[in-house]
Amino acid sequence: MSLRFEQLGKTFVASVSGIDLRRPISTEQQSTLEKALAKYGVLVFRNQPIGDDEQQAFIEKFGPPMNTTLKELATGHPHFYDIGTVDDNGIPTPEIKARQMYMLANQLWHTDGSQVQPPIRLTALHARVLPPEPPPTQFADMHAAWNALPDAQKREIDGLKVEHSIYWSRQKIGMGVDDFSDETREQRAPVDHPLVRTHPLTGRKSLYLASHASHVIGWPIDKGRALIEELTELATQPQFVFSVDWQPHNLVMWDNRWTMHRATPYSGDHPRKMRWCAVRELEPV
Ligand code: OGA
Ligand code: MN
Repeated sequence: MSLRFEQLGKTFVASVSGIDLRRPISTEQQSTLEKALAKYGVLVFRNQPIGDDEQQAFIEKFGPPMNTTLKELATGHPHFYDIGTVDDNGIPTPEIKARQMYMLANQLWHTDGSQVQPPIRLTALHARVLPPEPPPTQFADMHAAWNALPDAQKREIDGLKVEHSIYWSRQKIGMGVDDFSDETREQRAPVDHPLVRTHPLTGRKSLYLASHASHVIGWPIDKGRALIEELTELATQPQFVFSVDWQPHNLVMWDNRWTMHRATPYSGDHPRKMRWCAVRELEPV
C-alpha cells in the first residue's frame, strides 16, 4: 500500500489514502507524511477506527507527544484532551466554567499551543463520537495570506515579535485570570514568537497568528493589536479558508506552523467527542 494524497482545497488540505492507522506506521511513511504536511498543511485520514493506543503510537512517530497537563481539560490520559461534550462513558462533561470556556475559545481562529514555548508543531484530532450533523472545522492557509500582502507590508512586518497569551484569548470570551486554576496560571506565562515564520521543509513564509496573539513587542499595545486584528481578518477571508467535514473515525492532522483553525458551533444536544493529541517543536520558536 503506498500513500496517496488528493488535494481538497484550492491551495491546501488533502485527503490521505493507502494507510491503516490501526498498524504502526513506518519511518518512511512518517517522512512522507511530514512532507505532505509541509505541502498541504492539513491531512484528512478517512475511516480510521483506532483507539487510544493506536492514536498514541501514531503521534509518537512525529515526536514526543505533548503532556496534556491543563487541569481544566484533563481526560485522565497523559497525552490526550477531549474536545467536545461527553466523557468516555458518554456522560456529559461537568459544566465547569473553565472547560466550557476552552470549548468556546476553540471557535476563535487559532493555532494550537502558540501560547506556550516551544509551541505545538502538529495536532492529530480523531473523531470518536459525532453529532448527527457534525460541524466542520475550518482551516486557514497562512502562507497564501502572507503571499497576498503588498511587498511594503511584508517588509514592515517581517522580523516582528508578538506576545501570545492564554489570558488574552480567554479575555475575548469573557474569562478572567481568576477563572484559571493556580496550576494553570503557573504553567502559562505569556511567550513571544515571530509574526512571520519560515517553514523548515519548504522555505515558504507564513503569518503566525492565533487568538492568543496579543500585541507586537516594542510597539504601543494598541498599534500592535490593530495590526494583529487586520492580519487575522485578511488571513481568514474565504479565499484562504477550507472547511473540513467530519465523518465517524476520521483523523485530521494539521501543521500549526502555517495554518490556523477554528471550531464551528456545536450544542450539547448531541454528544461530540474528539480525541486531541499533539507534538511540540523541539526548540523554542
Ligand atoms: C482543536 C480544535 C476544533 C474543533 O482540536 O485543537 O481547535 O472543531 N478543534 O473541535
Ligand atoms: Mn485547536
